[in-house]
Amino acid sequence: MKRLIRYAAMGASLGVLGLVLAGSLAGCGERRGSKDTAAAKATGRIGETEVVVVEEVVSCDGKNKIMIAKDVRGQARADARMDQWKRNNPDRHWVEEEKTAHNFKPPADNSDVLEGGQREGNVYGDFTETDLLIWARETEKMVAEGSRIFHSGDRLGSTVGVSCDMCHPHAANTHPETYPKFQTQLGRVVLLRDMINWCIENPVRGKKLEADSAEMRALEAYIMAQRKGTVMNYGKQ
Ligand code: HEC
Repeated sequence: MKRLIRYAAMGASLGVLGLVLAGSLAGCGERRGSKDTAAAKATGRIGETEVVVVEEVVSCDGKNKIMIAKDVRGQARADARMDQWKRNNPDRHWVEEEKTAHNFKPPADNSDVLEGGQREGNVYGDFTETDLLIWARETEKMVAEGSRIFHSGDRLGSTVGVSCDMCHPHAANTHPETYPKFQTQLGRVVLLRDMINWCIENPVRGKKLEADSAEMRALEAYIMAQRKGTVMNYGKQ
């Protein structure tokens, strides 16, 4: 924390042009703004301290922003991001617990992204092992949230105390890799989310989820994560 503020203050006192917040919405884990989007100035706050924001990384729940001053580079940047990420995620023990309880598969190994080193000018020059760790943890967090819902009649809004795992342990027989496909009981081509909703309304006896709700997105994430390594084969009955 202290380190970050010092760098940030240094950036400000040097009159470094802050930028960012230039328009487009970033997805989680993506960076908003870069050295190239100069024009707009923006400032942010870390605690009491005003900083010049040069990069924002939005976490997957959309709540937390990681702000780092422009002239923080290399390992210092990696450390600053990790510091902030940890502070933004004080509750991450439940992810480990969920992982242990339901034994879900780890996300892909992205270490090839770092090949060729982290030097300036490299396409991936800004990425470090810390980035890879953040990507993996944020991804696991979404999957873990899906796992919690999948295993909870309450979270699913079941009126008969039924959760998905009772019929689909570890998401067995959910076949996400076969979508889109023609589903006979619905009489049309559907996506995974439509069958999730079919099961919520029928065996689970709950209320359909909005297709874009946080719960539906997490359920999809969990189900797909469980089928890691399975070949995609849409249309398969
Ligand atoms: C009481 C048992 C039961 C429960 C509980 C249940 N399902 Fe199902 N599920 C089924 C059956 C049976 C099918 C097969 C339906 C068919 O294809 O005719 C199915 C099919 C599916 C499919 C499509 C599989 C495929 O091969 O395409 C998905 C996805 C799915 N369920 C997800 C869920 C989710 C998510 C939950 C929790 C919200 C859930 N199910 C709860 C019994 C259940």
